[in-house]
Amino acid sequence: MKRIELCSQSDVAEGTAIMVESDGLELAVYHVEGQFYVTDNLCTHGPGKLSEGYLDGHVIECDFHNGAFDIRNGEVVAPPCMVRLKTYRVLPDPGNVIIEAD
Ligand code: FES
Repeated sequence: MKRIELCSQSDVAEGTAIMVESDGLELAVYHVEGQFYVTDNLCTHGPGKLSEGYLDGHVIECDFHNGAFDIRNGEVVAPPCMVRLKTYRVLPDPGNVIIEAD
């Protein structure tokens, strides 16, 4: 496992997501109720980019075909998505968003 620093926490406004590319990964970083969450940016259903989707609480809705995932665990919450979204563990840090990745 390695630590990858993605961005500053202040880069991600509450209730929004941004795309971050790092270490060969394209990720979506979300800020919800003071917590940060990280998933793959690419929807598991097709070409949709989840950082460009609609974030409602802990649910990200893909703007391509309106499938949706829970950003806390990657579980599908609305079709047509069927495959779980990869999520990353966010490490505690006072000012940055840092994940643990393989
Ligand atoms: S590409 Fe995301 S729901 Fe189809």
